[in-house]
Amino acid sequence: MGYQFSKNSEDTFKKIQGQFPDKRSLILPCLYFLQRDQGFVDNEGMQYIADRIGSPISLAQVYGVATFYTMYNKKPVGNFHIQICSNISCYLAGSDGVTQAFCSELGISKGQTTKDKSFTVEEVQCLGACGFGPVAQINDRYYENIKPQDVSGLIQALKAEAK
Ligand code: FES
Repeated sequence: MGYQFSKNSEDTFKKIQGQFPDKRSLILPCLYFLQRDQGFVDNEGMQYIADRIGSPISLAQVYGVATFYTMYNKKPVGNFHIQICSNISCYLAGSDGVTQAFCSELGISKGQTTKDKSFTVEEVQCLGACGFGPVAQINDRYYENIKPQDVSGLIQALKAEAK
């Protein structure tokens, strides 16, 4: 059997289903459920969403929304998805060095996932916390004012958290 909403996602879907006069408005939260449930959005999951929302929503519409927003992962990511802002404020505050520190500490390049599937490192656009750069979002948490020398300890803390 293919993808289905988790219980949490199913409960929320049922709660919000009737709240939008236009069914297109359900696509964003459903893609969020899909990503939360399995870590990324794929064609099978998007077809499920189109089917659950129902006519007139098609797979093409769901796909169009998913590919417009970079925040939806189109491929699997590690258990810890490290997204470092590379936009101007963070860049001027040293985000490049932070990204390099993450990559060096984990032995991967930007956009890659460690072999054990624990970490993915990516550069992203503005995370909306420009006054606190360099900023990284790791899963649902923000880390602000990160310095390259903080990275090793941060990785160790995340590894300990995963145990
Ligand atoms: Fe980095 Fe806005 S420029 S959070």
